[in-house]
Parts: sequence; structure tokens; C-alpha cells
Amino acid sequence: MSRIAVVPGSFDPVTLGHLDVIERAANVFDEVHVVVVHNPGKTALLPLAQRVTLLEESIADARLSGTILVTSWSVGLLVDYCTDVGANVLVKGIRSQIDVAYETPMAIVNRDLVGIETVFMLPNPAHAHVSSSLVRQVASLGGDVSPYVPDAVAAFLDTVEDL
Ligand code: PNS
Repeated sequence: MSRIAVVPGSFDPVTLGHLDVIERAANVFDEVHVVVVHNPGKTALLPLAQRVTLLEESIADARLSGTILVTSWSVGLLVDYCTDVGANVLVKGIRSQIDVAYETPMAIVNRDLVGIETVFMLPNPAHAHVSSSLVRQVASLGGDVSPYVPDAVAAFLDTVEDL
């Protein structure tokens, strides 16, 4: 039986830390679905479709091996998507104890909802300080975000006048 993992997130925008977790998930599971989800608790910078495009470009450029599919989910619960595609597990990247505190309640609620397990993966510590929100802030104030994001994202953000 094929083991399908879902790597969900806002990916606003995708960072090198996200890419690292996606690669690790693809090394462990047969199929990885990277799902761009609307987070009602956050004000988005990029439209969902743009985030999907940047993820697709970044994954292609990084030549990640394995079966990796990128999609978005904006209606209903994330676990509904998991049930629809027969996913066995959710994968989340953990950079620090703050992430553990943020992710643990969601992991338990998702398991309560449909019985799905969440696996926490540790990205390369070189990316431990990288977050989409910092990238958004630095980019919007005219700083260089190229050390933190895939080339496709850095190039795209350079083209946006009003971030
Ligand atoms: O990258 P983020 O913003 O930390 O990702 C959080 C996300 C989008 C994965 C989370 O907010 C989520 O799963 N949202 C979908 C709505 C849902 O299913 N909520 C219940 C989760 S317990």
C-alpha cells in the first residue's frame, strides 16, 4: 500500500526551510502532497495560486526526487483533503520549542477529527531562523531575502513593486 504524506502550510512564500522538510518527507513516504492552505489566522501576502506556482518552480529547480504534488485547499478542514486523497500522515517541520507548542494542539485535533497521525520532522538547523513572516517583512522593507528562499521566490519578490 502506498504511503501518502501531506505537507500543509501557508507557504507565503515557500522558504528554504520548507523545501528541506518537503525533501525529507519525499525521502520517507511514497507520495507527498504539498498543500497550500488558507490560514484564517493570518493575513496573506501572496494569492494562493501564486504560492502554488512558486512551490512548483522551487521543487522543480531543486530537482527533489520522489513523487511530489503541489495543490491548494481553501474550503473546509485540512483533514477533509487528507481523507479525500487517502493520506496516512501529516508532516510538519519543527524549528524550535515554539513550533512544538504551535503544532501540538493542531496535531491532536486533526487526530481527534479523523484519526490521522502527524509526524514532526527537524529541518537542517541552518534554516532554524527562517520563517515566511520574516521573509515578508525583510522583502517589504527592501532587504535581500535570497539567502532564505529558493531562487524562484527571490526573483518573483524582486518583480513585485508594492509588497
Ligand atoms: O504555515 P502555517 O500557516 O503555520 O500552516 C497552518 C495550517 C494552514 C496548516 C493550519 O492553519 C491548517 O491546517 N489550516 C486549515 C484549517 C483546519 O483544518 N484547521 C484545523 C486544524 S487543527
